This record gives sequence, structure tokens and C-alpha cells, in this order.
Amino acid sequence: MRSFPGRPTAEAIPDVLIVGGGVIGCSIAYHLALGGARAQVLERDYLAAGASGVAAGMLAPQVEAPFDDPFFALTLLGRAEHAPLAAALLDDVGLDVECRTSGILRVAMDEAERVELQRRMRWQTARGLRAEWIEPTELGDREPLLAGVAGRLLAGGLWLPDEGHVRSPRLVQGLATASVKRGARIAEGAWATAFELDGDRVVGVRTPTGVMRAGTFVLAAGVWSGDLARSAGLSLPVGPVKGQIVTLRALNRSPRQVIWSGECYLVPKVDGQVILGATEEDGNYDRRPTLAGMGHLAEAALEFLPLAGGFTVEGMWAGLRPAAPDRYPIVGRAPGRDNLILATAHFRNGVLLGPLTGRWIADFIRGGTLASELAPFGPERFAGASPSQGLEARRADLPGRAE
Ligand code: GLY
Repeated sequence: MRSFPGRPTAEAIPDVLIVGGGVIGCSIAYHLALGGARAQVLERDYLAAGASGVAAGMLAPQVEAPFDDPFFALTLLGRAEHAPLAAALLDDVGLDVECRTSGILRVAMDEAERVELQRRMRWQTARGLRAEWIEPTELGDREPLLAGVAGRLLAGGLWLPDEGHVRSPRLVQGLATASVKRGARIAEGAWATAFELDGDRVVGVRTPTGVMRAGTFVLAAGVWSGDLARSAGLSLPVGPVKGQIVTLRALNRSPRQVIWSGECYLVPKVDGQVILGATEEDGNYDRRPTLAGMGHLAEAALEFLPLAGGFTVEGMWAGLRPAAPDRYPIVGRAPGRDNLILATAHFRNGVLLGPLTGRWIADFIRGGTLASELAPFGPERFAGASPSQGLEARRADLPGRAE
């Protein structure tokens, strides 16, 4: 990754100061820079040091959606943003972010899963989306690695041809490089410790080397967002849901597409690497991978793909997904703080939603109107008794619940 200056400079005051150099912060900087605004990103470690650097980069709204709701609609829009952005970044800065519409095969381990996945297929196709049921005997045609075991270990699969994946750290790198090319500033090793207030307005961000001033501030600091929000007098319920992944090498036996079970996913990357993910460990701030995490993922993969036993292990990684109690993003103006925008808590969907969130937040800062699709996801939902305001919280039914 190219290096960025490590210190905030005392040069011209930026229009917008963004705290957080992950996919959300860098996407906001990119879209602001495209529109000619002076953006400054402060990143406490290095770009994509948090969840964005560990994410498998799944672009998978359909496979993750148990039901149709405003969040599902948002994630479909988020997915559509990626291919054009990848093409623009390739053209602009010559970086292939490896956005691929490989499709995802969601396998059913038993009859109960088969029934549930077929239910999803029905509502998704009725909504005009592509989703197709594959019987166990035909799974091997779709995924040669499953030939021979499909009828024995699996009860069928849901084929979702429009899903895919992107190389998450590269996406952050591409957004950052394109932003800097247009005049944005990115400071790594620049730890924002607190917001400074003057009455109801944020006037600066404190760092160990001084106070940075700006017109507008954006909080996109992942799991650290709650601490920073507190310094601005706000209570923001964002905590970590640790995710561990194992990177594998499959040589000539790489899966053709993403394979996803109820407990894990295998994502074949362009260079032959396969990412096996991901655990979900609530409230865990420890960013080190563990043997238990690896064991859980290995067991989950081998349960339906014995051939994965021959894949070699390259590395293990852990990241902290920032999550609100209802698991939906927190995006919008901070209550009572006119010039502070929140863009955090994207949980499992930071990469998927990053480009769209970035574009809409930049539009909001420029034009004053927030996309109506984001209305259910504002911070004000935590003020009342019912935090999800009619959205059914998505806590269950996702891979890797390792706790
Ligand atoms: N988006 C997949 C995950 O967070 O594991």
C-alpha cells in the first residue's frame, strides 16, 4: 500500500474532516474529492487497519437477507455501486480492486435449511431478483468440488448469480489513492482522541500533535466510534463483533464461486487465494486470531467440503466489525450537533455499503439532503424505547456464530 503522511498538517483548514481510514471514511473522502471539497482523513493506525483490512469483501445482500425490508433494499443499491466504482478506479489510478460477480452458492446442510432457503428464493424471485434452486444431484455441475459429496452431505443449494466479492484492502487503497490524487489529505498514525465543542458545534478534533479544525466532521471510526462520540456529548451504542478469517491456498482445486453454508463461507480470490470466514464473537475487542476461531472455521468448511482439508493455510486474521445493538448502520447527522455526521456501525456490511454510504454522505454534506433510503438508519432511533423502529433486528441466521 502506498504510504501517506503520518501527521496532520497545519495547512489550509479542510472543508470536511473524517475520522477513520477504513472503507467508509475513504469512500466519503473520495466522493467529496470528486466534488471538489477539501477532505482530510485521520486514521489512528494505517489505512484499512480495522475491519476493512480483514473483510473477505463479500458483495452478498441476497444470501444474507432472511426477509425483505428497507435494509435489504439498501444493500441491493450498495451492491450495484461496486462494478462501476471498480471500473472508475482502474481507469483513474490503475488499480484492480478485484470486483467479481462470481455468484454465490448457498448450500443447505439439512431439510430445515432447504425449506428456509427455498422460502428465500421465492420472495427474492417474486421481487425480480435472480435466485435458482439446485438439487443435490446437480450441485456438482455448478461446483465441481462438491461432485461426489453433494448428495451425501448436502440437501441442495441456492444459486445467486448476481452476488460476488471485491478485495477489500485494495478497495480502500484505490479510494484513498484516487482521493489524494484530487487533493484530499490522508494522515495515518493520526489518533483522534476527542472532539472539541463550542456550544453545540464541533470545532475541532484533538490529536496528540494538536487540534485539527474543519467546517464539517464525519465520524467513521468503526468500533472506536462510541468513545469519540462520547467526547461530543453523544451516546452511540457501537460495539465490536469480532470476525476471524483463515486465508488458504487451493492450487488447482479452488472453488468456482463463493460457497456459503450456515456456518462459514469460502471466497475464491483472483490470485488463487481462498478466504475462509468468518467467526462472529460479540463484545470481543481482542484483535488476535485464536485457535478456537480457526478450529470453528475448519470444522464448518470440512463438514460440507472434505476436499478443503487439502488446502494449505497461509494466514489467520481477525477484525472487529462495528455493530449497533440492532445490527443496522448508524448514518446521519448527530443529534444536536449540526456539523457532525455519523457513518458507522455497518457491522457485516461495511464493504458492501461503503461506496454507497460514501457517495450519499458526500451528497448530504454538499447539498444538505440525506438520501431518503437512509432515514431508518439514523442515530435518533436510539433515543426512544424501540431502537429498530419497525426494522426487525438481524441478529440470527448468519454464518460463524462462534461465541
Ligand atoms: N460480510 C461478511 C462478514 O462480515 O463476515
